[in-house]
Amino acid sequence: MDLWPGGVGLAAKLPLLFFLIISATTGSVRAKIHYQKWEVAYQFKSPDCFQKLAITINGRTPGPTIIAEQGDTVVIDVKNALLTENLAIHWHGIRQIGTPWFDGTEGVTQCPVVPRDTFTYRFVVDRSGTYMYHAHYEMQRSAGLYGLIRVLPPAGVVEPFIYDYDRSIILNDWWHQNTYEQAVGLNSKNFTWVGEPQSLLINGRGKFNCSNAGSGVCHPTNPECSPYVLTVIPGKTYRLQIASITSLSALNFEVEGHNLMVVEVDGHYVKPFMVKNLNIYSGETYSVLLKAEQDPSRNYWAAV
Ligand SMILES: *[C@@H]1O[C@H](CO)[C@@H](O)[C@H](O)[C@H]1NC(C)=O
Ligand SMILES: *[C@@H]1O[C@H](CO)[C@@H](O)[C@H](O)[C@H]1NC(C)=O
Repeated sequence: MDLWPGGVGLAAKLPLLFFLIISATTGSVRAKIHYQKWEVAYQFKSPDCFQKLAITINGRTPGPTIIAEQGDTVVIDVKNALLTENLAIHWHGIRQIGTPWFDGTEGVTQCPVVPRDTFTYRFVVDRSGTYMYHAHYEMQRSAGLYGLIRVLPPAGVVEPFIYDYDRSIILNDWWHQNTYEQAVGLNSKNFTWVGEPQSLLINGRGKFNCSNAGSGVCHPTNPECSPYVLTVIPGKTYRLQIASITSLSALNFEVEGHNLMVVEVDGHYVKPFMVKNLNIYSGETYSVLLKAEQDPSRNYWAAV
C-alpha cells in the first residue's frame, strides 16, 4: 500500500477525518468503553450431555454476551490459550468503520493470534441491533467459540416497538466427532460427509439420548445439559434477540403456544409481522417480541 497517496487520495480522506473529529467531540459525552478480558482454551464440556473437547471463553461456551450502546467502544483482550492452534475472532455484522484491521478475518485483515499471545480488539459498535461473534480460524467456530453481541440504541433514542425485558438466544448445531476428524473427511479426495449434527443447542444446551452414546462419556443429569430456562413475568413482553451460528443446519425456532412478533432483522428494524415460528439460517439474527400471555401455571417448550 502506498502510504502517501497523491492529491486525489488525500482529498478523499480529509472529509472522513473531519467526520471522525466531529463525532469524537460530540459523541464523547455519552460513549462508553466496554472492556472484557478473555482466555480462549480447550476444555471438556457436555453441552448436550455427551462429553467432548470444546473451545471455551473464560471456561464457557457460548462465550459471554457483549452488551453495549450504539457509539460505544468495545475493547477485548483475547488470550490464545489453545496451546497448539492459532486464533482470530470475527465480529459478525459489526461494520468496523475505520478499524478494518479488527474485523478478525484471519489471513485477510489480520495475522492470527499465535498460541500464548494476547491480541486486543478495539472497535465501535455503530448501529443498534443483534449481532454475534465467532472464531475465524479453521473449524474453531464449530468447536464452540461463539457468542452474541447486543447493541442498544443510544440514550434518548426510542425504538419503534415496546418491550419490558430483553434476552439472548443463540442457536447452534453440534457434532460429537471432533472438528479435526470432520475436516480430514471433508478435505480428503475421498470426501466424507460430516452427517447430521448429533444435537441442536439453544444457548449452548441440548439433550442427546445417552443410551446411544456408545463408549462415550454421557450423563443425562449433568447440569451442563439441563435445558436453558427463560423465566417470565406474566403479562410482560420479552424481546428475544436470536442468532444462528450453525455450521450446516437451517433452523426453525418456536415457542409452544406463543406467537412471535418480528421487529428487527440483521441490525435493521422491520415493519412488525407476526409468526408462529421463525426460519433462521446461519449468520442471521432476529429480534422477536414474545408476550407472556398464556396460563402461568404451566411451562412452555421452546424448540428448534
Ligand atoms: C473411500 O471411502 C469409502 C467409503 O468409506 C471406502 O470404502 C474406501 O475404501 C475409501 N477409499 C480410499 C482410497 O480411502
Ligand atoms: C433413547 O434411546 C433408547 C435406545 O435407542 C430408546 O429405547 C429410548 O426410547 C430413547 N429415549 C428417548 C427419550 O428418546
